[in-house]
Amino acid sequence: MSSRIIPVQPFDYVVFGATGDLTKRKLIPALYHRFKDGQFDEQSRIIGVSRSKLTDGEFQKLASDAIAQFVEKDYQDAATIERFLKIFSYVVNDVSDEAGWGDLRKALRDDPKIIRAFYLAVAPDLFEPIAEQLAKTKVYRRDARVVIEKPLGHDLASSMEINDGVAKIFKEDQVYRIDHYLGKETVQNLLALRFANTLFEPIWNSAHIDHVQLTVAESVGAGTRGYYDESGALRDMIQNHMLQLLCLVAMEPPASDDANALRDEKLKVLRALKPITNGDVSKTTVRGQYRGVKSEATAVASYQDELPDDKKGSHTETFVALKAEIQNWRWSGVPFYLRTGKRMAERVSEICIQFKPIPHSIFDHAEGAPRANKLIIRLQPDEGVKLMMMIKDPGPGGMRLREVPLNLSFAETFTERTPEAYERLLMDVIRGSQTLFMRRDELEAAWSWVDPIRQAWDRSSEPPQSYSAGTWGPSGAVALIERDGRTWYEGNN
Ligand code: BG6
Repeated sequence: MSSRIIPVQPFDYVVFGATGDLTKRKLIPALYHRFKDGQFDEQSRIIGVSRSKLTDGEFQKLASDAIAQFVEKDYQDAATIERFLKIFSYVVNDVSDEAGWGDLRKALRDDPKIIRAFYLAVAPDLFEPIAEQLAKTKVYRRDARVVIEKPLGHDLASSMEINDGVAKIFKEDQVYRIDHYLGKETVQNLLALRFANTLFEPIWNSAHIDHVQLTVAESVGAGTRGYYDESGALRDMIQNHMLQLLCLVAMEPPASDDANALRDEKLKVLRALKPITNGDVSKTTVRGQYRGVKSEATAVASYQDELPDDKKGSHTETFVALKAEIQNWRWSGVPFYLRTGKRMAERVSEICIQFKPIPHSIFDHAEGAPRANKLIIRLQPDEGVKLMMMIKDPGPGGMRLREVPLNLSFAETFTERTPEAYERLLMDVIRGSQTLFMRRDELEAAWSWVDPIRQAWDRSSEPPQSYSAGTWGPSGAVALIERDGRTWYEGNN
């Protein structure tokens, strides 16, 4: 069998915002795993950049602490960590400080065979000034890559402004917009499931599918992240992660796995989404906010309790459920129900494809009426795919029907560690593969669809519906789907 680790070309990865949370929690651990697996070696370099006055040694210490805290214990190997830390160096740089840019230039190698990538783990208002400085100080190269991630704006206009700023220097084929959901193994598996099997594609349409449900539930709260109250669940989860999932489920088969072929198809889905405007917003969307629960055993704070005093009374939603429709031949009449929230009953991300019922039952006298098939794609945790089917309950006693899952559990089938999304995405940047990154037009199409919902909510004086922490959201979300004679799939129905 050929090796599964394909080494990448040596690189200089420059991380702006090197002392920030994202770098510590995600980027350093992800790069460590790729290094440990031999995907790159000491010929590559990681150059941290930020305003804090650190030495190389202090930055290496920060990296070593991040590994200790955020890499699973079983994978922390002292000899590997020591080798890994040697590729770390640090440059003190304030965007407006000329000296810092000179130091960065010196830290980079001029060899064109060494891939140059800039990860901007900083606030989006710094993207444009950084890009301009990179060009001005000749750190920019036409083959360099720039990585950016959300919040890429808070609406269409601000997102365009950010993209325009970056585009002053970087061409679209150099820009890698991260949506980390696309780097998740199980999300990529959706592509394999749909396009590497003949079974599903012929029935993947409105003739056979009744509706689709997408749930991304988190058990954690919004915490004290200042950003969240400005954003809310619609911008934080629906505009990006959930619409990307919807695209992968709904898109036409692309001609190849070429980045633009795939992104063209996703874009068509986004553009075919039926606008949810004023009058429809109250019928097809529900927003919620969690309230605390107190019992003898536990006490969970409400969203309001977590807010600083000047934000109390905020109408920011921590939960959204909505019904989306795709106006094209394949999906006409097939609703896509999306829901996501914080402090929900459990952490689960799942896609449920509900097929239509059988056209005629010959089992009128059998116990247990035939239930329509469901395909459940579990993204996290316990990744796997389940096809719910009807069988005859074995044994005597007449024809009794029972629903059982044809179950592919990844955890049981594959024993190797599943790489984290950032591992795949960081290496794709070096490989020059944009397939799992959002193109500008996709991002803007997603904002165009989300903006009218947000605006209608902002115009309304109604607060979000309240739901108890640890539940599946407000009653309005149940009503939203029940009005259509359907129910949310919660693992047991
Ligand atoms: C982030 C959101 O993009 O995704 C967070 O900003 C959310 O609010 C997170 O918690 C969820 O990601 P995951 O990988 O834990 O499902």
